[in-house]
Amino acid sequence: MKTLVVYFSYSGNCALVADVIKNSLNADVLELKLTDERERKGLAKYIWGGKQVFSHVKPPLKPYRADWEQYDFIVIGSPVWAGTFAPALGTFFDETKISGKKIALFCCHGGGQGRFFDRVKAALPGNTFAAERGFVISSGVNRGEALENVRAWAQTLAKV
Ligand SMILES: Cc1cc2nc3c(=O)[nH]c(=O)nc-3n(C[C@H](O)[C@H](O)[C@H](O)COP(=O)(O)O)c2cc1C
Repeated sequence: MKTLVVYFSYSGNCALVADVIKNSLNADVLELKLTDERERKGLAKYIWGGKQVFSHVKPPLKPYRADWEQYDFIVIGSPVWAGTFAPALGTFFDETKISGKKIALFCCHGGGQGRFFDRVKAALPGNTFAAERGFVISSGVNRGEALENVRAWAQTLAKV
């Protein structure tokens, strides 16, 4: 089964999760990157990101390419922002219009995943969702334990 992991990560947690899944499944990886490279921290990051979510902003992404046809299975991940997926994923969904794929979803969050999975599924009609998992992983807290959970989950993905 040829697998692609697509993810967005603002502060590195989802990047760690994606790396574990990539290694477990021997998958290809596509990281979505914002053209806006300013690094926001602390409260400013939350205000900027929250505003993007509530204003339904679709932030521009750096150019990316993937030959979707060659993948049977796509794993998609993002941090939870204000109870849903980070707006970078919204841009990606609009640009790529993935359909007819088997998909697994993951998110990283600080304890409240909100409606992340419902929102992603609604944005990706015409696909089959084989698995979903939220990981509580925030600012380095519990990273080791969280990544153990990721490893265990990735093993189950090999069988979906
Ligand atoms: C703008 C913004 C909004 C967030 N909203 C939530 C939220 O609604 N629920 C939650 O549990 N964590 C929330 N978080 C925390 C992130 O989901 C969490 O730190 C995640 O691990 C970050 O992943 P990353 O390092 O890959 O960017 C938010 C973070 C930001 C920057």
